[in-house]
Amino acid sequence: MSEDARTSGPSDEEIRAAARIAGDHRVSDEPAAGDAPPAGAERGRLANRPAMDFWSVLYGRRTTRRFDKQRPVPRELVLELLDAALIAPTSCNLQMWDFIVVDDPEQREQLGRLSLQVLSTPVTIFVTYGKEFSEEGHANVQSAAAAMMQMSNAAHVLGIGTFWINQLGPRDQVGRILGVPPDREVIAGLAVGWPDPYPTKAPRRRPFEHVVHWNHYGGTAIPTSPRPDDWTLEQIRDYQQARVLNGNRYNKSRPWELAGALAAAERLAPRNTDGVPGDDAPRWLDVLPVHGLFTGAMARHHRDHRWSVLDLTLDVAAFAAKRCPTQVQAEAYAYEPLSDTPGAMQGLPAGTFSVITCRHRLESLPAAERPLLLATLHDLLAPGGKLLLQFTSRRSFHGIADWMHARRGGPGGVEYVLAPDPNLGPYEAVRPGEVERLVKQAGFRIAERIHEDVVPGTDEVGFRTRNMGGAKAGLLRAAVAVGRVLAAIPGMAALFARERTLILERGR
Ligand SMILES: Cc1cc2nc3c(=O)[nH]c(=O)nc-3n(C[C@H](O)[C@H](O)[C@H](O)COP(=O)(O)O)c2cc1C
Repeated sequence: MSEDARTSGPSDEEIRAAARIAGDHRVSDEPAAGDAPPAGAERGRLANRPAMDFWSVLYGRRTTRRFDKQRPVPRELVLELLDAALIAPTSCNLQMWDFIVVDDPEQREQLGRLSLQVLSTPVTIFVTYGKEFSEEGHANVQSAAAAMMQMSNAAHVLGIGTFWINQLGPRDQVGRILGVPPDREVIAGLAVGWPDPYPTKAPRRRPFEHVVHWNHYGGTAIPTSPRPDDWTLEQIRDYQQARVLNGNRYNKSRPWELAGALAAAERLAPRNTDGVPGDDAPRWLDVLPVHGLFTGAMARHHRDHRWSVLDLTLDVAAFAAKRCPTQVQAEAYAYEPLSDTPGAMQGLPAGTFSVITCRHRLESLPAAERPLLLATLHDLLAPGGKLLLQFTSRRSFHGIADWMHARRGGPGGVEYVLAPDPNLGPYEAVRPGEVERLVKQAGFRIAERIHEDVVPGTDEVGFRTRNMGGAKAGLLRAAVAVGRVLAAIPGMAALFARERTLILERGR
């Protein structure tokens, strides 16, 4: 399961059915009367507790997201987790926490409507803390987090899987459903269930040398700014590596983005879903695709090409290349332009690729890096080949949405950037005139210009208004309808289209 929001939710009946599962889980070996825990198990500490070496727990615990939903979690075991929580440190040992264990179908249904994540396991433990206590340095949140961690580790020893739920939905509504007094804050939930299977893949973490400092901060921090000019290429590398390799949060494409990628690919070559490329097949390079979601989809539709992926690090390129079908022979390359020969690339001879796609990546590179990337792609393109360069125009509704997003004053960091692929780094729409100047400078000839999306499509409008109130959503939909009429006026698309595609050929 991803931490991302879903495009379309399950039906009421599906939510009710998922919530009902927990009915069977409100059990102990000896069914308890009412909601009380069984006698003798008030605080956990079963006689036959399993034991595990500390370091095995430390390195072996994993966030679990696949569960055996039919297998009950007895309350005795939940009490073991709570026992581990209560021994956690708290600021000033104040212990201003309360733990609300939810395993009742009706409660689950209500909470599941706010966050589907609650329905992934039969039991969720909500950790609350006194709002006014230990506020300095967020010590209240720190104390609650310590308890969360103790429970996660204890669960691991018991063979139980957990995942930490921050995305619970509006906290005030969660608090009301749980009956939490207004001076208590719901900090997080711990989803608890039997893993199916328990993940064993070692987690990737950012390297020591990037994050550990002795005595004084000595590095360059990863910025929170969504503007690429506030980042160095090295920082973008580091960030994307962390993002993609440490769990690949962005693992679902939105339907209109996928359709856009496939349509773009078909502008360059006819669809071929059953070919097997020979050694002399034309080569296709996808540039900086990061998670590679669309690379995989495009490669499946163009199996008569040999596919390659170029990204900022070899690890990330290999991650994307793995998403391609095996028969297209996808290869991975790291972007390492030779500093003494602008445009030439380490390990890739000039003129290698008949087709190159670079979709929405100029927007995520510092402006100073863009000319070199384009010069490199010019060098890699075979004579007679085509490069498809897609970008978001600043002079479009995207620019307006960006402005409104900034004005709303909500979270404005790089995680919340308005981009086709959120969470992958900085992103800033670009000016069409500037892109044309850059591509000409790199030596390309513009063979075709395509202007799309003066207003967003129906799918996208539905997605973006899904959490808005009725009046606001209605207003936005009306604005889009008016925009659609205006978009039909000749010349409007050339001026205000968001999605710009240039088909480029070698000019020299
Ligand atoms: C504060 C915090 C909030 C988190 N929120 C969620 C969440 O809402 N949903 C989810 O599936 N995982 C959530 N996680 C789990 C992380 O995604 C997970 O810990 C991370 O990918 C590292 O994987 P690991 O725990 O297996 O090492 C959260 C973790 C923390 C510490």
